[in-house]
Amino acid sequence: MTERLIEWHDTIGSTMSRAAELASAGAPAGTIVAAKQQTAGQGRLGRSWHSPADGGLYFTQILRPHLPPDELPVITLALGLAVADAIQLFTGLPCDLRWPNDVLCAQNEKKLAGILTQYHDGAILAGIGLNVNQTEFPEELRNIATSLVIETGTENDLEFLLKAAAGAIETHTDTLKRSGVTAILRLFGAQSSYVSGRRVIVDLPQGPARGVTSGLTPSGHLTLTKDNGEVITITAGGVRPDTEAGTAHA
Ligand code: BTN
Repeated sequence: MTERLIEWHDTIGSTMSRAAELASAGAPAGTIVAAKQQTAGQGRLGRSWHSPADGGLYFTQILRPHLPPDELPVITLALGLAVADAIQLFTGLPCDLRWPNDVLCAQNEKKLAGILTQYHDGAILAGIGLNVNQTEFPEELRNIATSLVIETGTENDLEFLLKAAAGAIETHTDTLKRSGVTAILRLFGAQSSYVSGRRVIVDLPQGPARGVTSGLTPSGHLTLTKDNGEVITITAGGVRPDTEAGTAHA
């Protein structure tokens, strides 16, 4: 297995900020900052990431994939595939992937992991928040989040899981480098129920858009066929199931 530098913290503000410092100082690809608690965990779209010391795994891996800038969004998809693989390997739990980067428990669509990708000083910071041994969540997250122990009844060792996830991240970023974007798009399309035929609401800056998902673009963005027939490309934003309208997914 590849030797990686792992900096473990019992508690830290955010592993993203510490990894950014290390990346600027020239830390090699694969370097990881991991924590058992974050006091200022960052989520996507400017949200915070609930990170108490109750069994979650929070880490950021520094990547230096040397990819053309237009392939960077696909890295996020590769990270989702990697985290889902590590979970499946460890627990056997089937996962779904919600574009661009939520790893869900396939059985109940609750979130097991979230991914935050940032570009910093020539490096990519892959931030992963994985719900491992938490036995409960605060009221506001209870219906949308779950953990490996809740779903399987078995606790997992955070350090083993970290190594499995880091290895899977390296495998999938290698696949991207060697086999190209199409390989990742194909794998993501095969593993995600959200890529096509799924009735969703997308929260865009100009307001919510409703429609049915209709595939990925060659850059890894999601296309949505709106109810008026217009096809739009989603480059950022939160995608959620449109439960009021039912589902177009078989
Ligand atoms: C999301 O909003 O779904 C992405 C959440 C990413 C959270 C992880 S936890 C480790 C790393 N450090 C942070 O502050 N955020 C990411």
